[in-house]
Amino acid sequence: MNKEIKFFNGENVPLELHKVRVVQKLHLVPIERRLEALYEGGFNTFRLTTNDVFLDMLTDSGVNAMSDRQVAAMMHADDAYAGSQSFFRLQKAVEDVLKKKYYLPVHQGRAAENILACAYIKKKGDLIPMNYHFTTALAHITQYGGRIAELLYDEAYNISSSHPFKGNLNVEKLDALIQETGKENIPFIRLEASTNLIGGQPFSVQNMRDVRKVADKYGIRLVLDASLLGENAYLVLQREPEFKNSTMADVIATLTGMADIVYFSARKLSSSRGGGICTNDHAIYREMEALVPLFEGFLTYGGISVREIEAMAVGLYETLDETMISQSPNFIAYLVNTLTAKGVPMVTPPGVLGAHVDAMRMCEHIPQTQYPAGSLAAAFFLISGVRGMERGSVSNQRDEDGNETYADMELLRLAVPRRVFTLSQIKYVEDRMVWLYKHRKLIGGLKFVYEPPVLRFFMGGLEPVSDWAQKLVAQFKKDFGDSL
Ligand SMILES: Cc1ncc(COP(=O)(O)O)c(C=O)c1O
Repeated sequence: MNKEIKFFNGENVPLELHKVRVVQKLHLVPIERRLEALYEGGFNTFRLTTNDVFLDMLTDSGVNAMSDRQVAAMMHADDAYAGSQSFFRLQKAVEDVLKKKYYLPVHQGRAAENILACAYIKKKGDLIPMNYHFTTALAHITQYGGRIAELLYDEAYNISSSHPFKGNLNVEKLDALIQETGKENIPFIRLEASTNLIGGQPFSVQNMRDVRKVADKYGIRLVLDASLLGENAYLVLQREPEFKNSTMADVIATLTGMADIVYFSARKLSSSRGGGICTNDHAIYREMEALVPLFEGFLTYGGISVREIEAMAVGLYETLDETMISQSPNFIAYLVNTLTAKGVPMVTPPGVLGAHVDAMRMCEHIPQTQYPAGSLAAAFFLISGVRGMERGSVSNQRDEDGNETYADMELLRLAVPRRVFTLSQIKYVEDRMVWLYKHRKLIGGLKFVYEPPVLRFFMGGLEPVSDWAQKLVAQFKKDFGDSL
């Protein structure tokens, strides 16, 4: 168990259990430049360049700090098209940590989703039940003609909650859905660890046991998206009484042991790049094997550089280290708790990967048709230089008839990659968010001026519906003078 380190003064401080040995200089550019950058980037934080960004809280994907051991491992990579020793070291790490014998490497998480969808979605209308979608998972399933059904418990949609496992899949609904749809139309059930789009909320081991029972009852494969498995396991240790004296290794093995197929983005799991699909079932391995050379690269590199393969192997073992995994969730809890105490509406309980601001409440004056979460993301960048990510209706895709679909939640995600930020930087985020909350009525809506047909949130261009950004700049100048 990770022991909490108490301060004599009684303060609750998430103490860093690592030291910084390589640093990167940051730039905080003036607010006038940040306004120009927003116009250049179509009020879409994905389109900002890092020269204009102070704290990059867009994502934890591929930007977690690597350990000294990971960097050292990259130096003894074995460059070979086929049969590289780096691959065998990674394969062993997958077997040791995720307890799966057969491993297919892919260049990132969505490539695994592409292969899974290609291998298993065989008929138009095939249905994939899941706790909740992730953008790229949904896009690949629909690309191959499939549909999804999101089966969370009602509590998951309650933004301010103390429920420890809002990512649980509703097993009663799952059973009913399978009976209604027919098991032959359900190629697999997908369970996502630390459910990303509802605020990084975990599921419990007990819930996965219950899902497994339903999967067994009907003979349907269970697929685990393990991209955020380390954090899910950490929250199981914290929140599920049965596991309070367990180790990360035990919980991870228990979870992966219940899945027929485990896939992951190594940009998250293992703090490197790349990804993978693994299983203990040779027949399943064969069903996907041929797709790796087709889409990714030869079976012993799968589109990943050998240096990253070495870093991934070490990073997988380090996922078992609670002091490494706990740092990001503990910083997130600190930020969520301090902002909540100051009245800012946050997703609670604190989850993983980032702190999530409830834009539907903070910007209740902005209708969903004008994208409150996108507006809040742009406004927060403008007044702080901190880049978060919209996780709301801009991130949704249109339905088959081209109609807008509005997200269940409009969230601004402020990602906290592992071991990247210091506590004073987190305090800066808190300070600027409290200021913005006070002036929230100045934030206005957005409209699309360029909308790509697939995954529109990445490169889409938007424009403010009024001169609200200029008004926000004027208020900032009034309150902060010439401070950056
Ligand atoms: C839960 C989950 N699954 C899949 C992916 C896709 O992974 P990648 O970005 O490596 O393609 C992500 C990425 O953020 C994710 O959070």
